[in-house]
Amino acid sequence: MNNVDAILQSGQAALAAVTDLIELEQVKARYLGKSGELTELLKQLGKLPAEERKAAGATINVAKQAFEAAHKQRFEQLNAAKLAAQLAAEALDVTLPGRGSAGGGLHPVALTLERIAGLFRTMGFEVADGPEIETDFYNFQALNIPENHPARAMADTFYVEGGDVLRTHTSPIQARFMMDNQPPIKIVAPGRVYRVDSDATHSPMFHQMEGLWVEEGVSFADLKAVVTDFLRRFFERDDLQVRFRPSFFPFTEPSAEIDVLGERGWLEVGGCGMVHPNVLRNVNIDPEKYTGFAFGIGLDRFAMLRYGVNDLRLFFENDLNFLRQFN
Ligand code: DAH
Repeated sequence: MNNVDAILQSGQAALAAVTDLIELEQVKARYLGKSGELTELLKQLGKLPAEERKAAGATINVAKQAFEAAHKQRFEQLNAAKLAAQLAAEALDVTLPGRGSAGGGLHPVALTLERIAGLFRTMGFEVADGPEIETDFYNFQALNIPENHPARAMADTFYVEGGDVLRTHTSPIQARFMMDNQPPIKIVAPGRVYRVDSDATHSPMFHQMEGLWVEEGVSFADLKAVVTDFLRRFFERDDLQVRFRPSFFPFTEPSAEIDVLGERGWLEVGGCGMVHPNVLRNVNIDPEKYTGFAFGIGLDRFAMLRYGVNDLRLFFENDLNFLRQFN
């Protein structure tokens, strides 16, 4: 019993000397484990004379508690040091610049579509839609292009099993809309169209936008005003020269091609005309009461002009180096 103090002191010294939590637990076992030094002392209590036993037991317990307190304190120190070391090792420098992630962007044709639709919205037009697989009726017949009409050869058509077609233009959307709505009608209808055609200036799938205004008293003067105003706003040139060159379309009478004057002369940007009375009759609108105009423009062509792109194929190759320029 005389070495209790000595054992405690060596135990406390050992605790103070450990440098990590594993060593700490080893030291603890050496003193308080099954055959630890302090445990051994307790085991020997029985060998003492009865009158000494109580005091000796108390002394050992005091030493044991002192050891445990020292152990706890060292445990907390080592734990705090370990946490501090971990925080230092895993430190983030929040002032470093980020690595960045590449953002996507809209396709130039989509940007052009949005821009054109936006301009027409400000003139009171709403945006209409229609199916890309179209019936012969809406793609041709309703638009005054009967079977065997030579105008059917104007566009080489993709046929779908069952007699439907991939729409060759966005004009069937005007027929659909008039079938479902009575005037006043003021719509633009953008979308994909398909023709058997493929070279530097033609793609088998391309984009058009149809325009239609049907109401009492709508005239060719309205057509010229709306289209000219749109073109001047699109190209951001108040003095842009616009020309309406007489032409033929089965669904309009009279008809015209729309040209704008560019640096290299007149450039065709679309077709237009007064909606043919037969078309109005085909969709149950009274041509004696209502008149209207329609126009069709190529969205890819407008995108090429706006962004200075000279090869249509660039729009369909999806080369990221090309597309990123429009982000
Ligand atoms: N549908 C014609 C085409 O695909 C474009 C067009 C011309 C649409 C005149 C019209 C129009 O609405 O009036 O080439």
